[in-house]
Amino acid sequence: MKIQENILIKQYNSFGINVYANLFAKFNSINELGELFELSKKSKFAYPRQTLIIGGGTNILFTKNFDGLVLKNDIKGIKIVKEEKQHIYVKVGAGESWHQFVLYCIKNGWAGVENLSLIPGNVGASPMQNIGAYGVEIKDVFHSLEAYHILDKKLVNFTFNDCEFGYRDSVFKNKHKNEFVITDVVFKLNLIPKYNISYGAIVKELDKMGVKDLSLKVVSQAVINIRNSKLPDPKVIGNAGSFFKNPEISSSQFKVLCSQYPKIVGYSLLNGNIKLAAGWLIEQCGPSIGISWKGFRKGDVGCYNKQALVLVNYDNAKGNELYDLSKEILQSVESKFNVILESEVNII
Ligand code: EPU
Repeated sequence: MKIQENILIKQYNSFGINVYANLFAKFNSINELGELFELSKKSKFAYPRQTLIIGGGTNILFTKNFDGLVLKNDIKGIKIVKEEKQHIYVKVGAGESWHQFVLYCIKNGWAGVENLSLIPGNVGASPMQNIGAYGVEIKDVFHSLEAYHILDKKLVNFTFNDCEFGYRDSVFKNKHKNEFVITDVVFKLNLIPKYNISYGAIVKELDKMGVKDLSLKVVSQAVINIRNSKLPDPKVIGNAGSFFKNPEISSSQFKVLCSQYPKIVGYSLLNGNIKLAAGWLIEQCGPSIGISWKGFRKGDVGCYNKQALVLVNYDNAKGNELYDLSKEILQSVESKFNVILESEVNII
């Protein structure tokens, strides 16, 4: 374990942005992490100044070289911690690949994460932003997690309630931002599957696949097929999934928008508000009249042609070019619909 200097971190961010970090190191245990923090005290970047912890790097946009220390969480391991009649509790290292973990669950007959197949990134980031797709969020299978408090140098256990999960949100993104490093997550998985195929696209895909009997494997495969059909593979085209969150507006604002735009896509929430499909809003706007952002490309930056919510780096885009495009999109949506989009991606 050592701290490397002046390291290209293109391979550590799924946008594939060509940027350098002054200092870079990987850690695979809490001890190593503690040692790295000690070592870093000798540099001008000692925590909390310019220290960035990354997992899979799938939700970050670097707009410039990182002037500081990047620490990559590589803590591995999958361990059963408890078994009940209907549930199994599995502790997973933050540095495990999320999708590999999903496949492992499916192989073992553990249900609950199959709808979250093929989400890029590592396990440690999954509770941080409460990842979700196709009617399921991580909070639905979350039991607890352990996180290292950087200043106190001790491990803290977080229960479900402690995490204060919201839509793509948790305490680690606001109240405790940059205070903790998530080291392990315990998931509570079902031994008796309860399939969630409420999301229309899954039903359609299962039908297309000719599925008669549901299984974890076929539901996972349906999700994989849907994702492959509309989301770019970051190994081929740089991206960070949805760039913006789907915005929440009041039902009265929705009524006004519906009268102007009868095709607007929105879903009712339990609190009475409406969640709008940001992809739809973006698709209706563009760089000039009559041209949609969807499929737009300028140099190496663009808005994906099959999902307008996804910004892409076709080859050698600069982070600030992507950031500028995101701002233009945001402004065009605001001026047309009076709705403000919020970035889902962490912009550095
Ligand atoms: N839509 C359009 N044009 C587009 C994209 C979407 O009109 O270009 C409309 C369509 O009406 C479509 C609806 O938006 O039916 C919903 O689209 P989609 O099913 O693709 O889902 P999304 O709301 O755009 C969210 C998540 C995705 C997740 C999918 C599926 C957010 C920010 N994104 O996208 O998560 O995979 O639902 O559940 O909530 C991610 O977070 O990185 C991510 C990919």
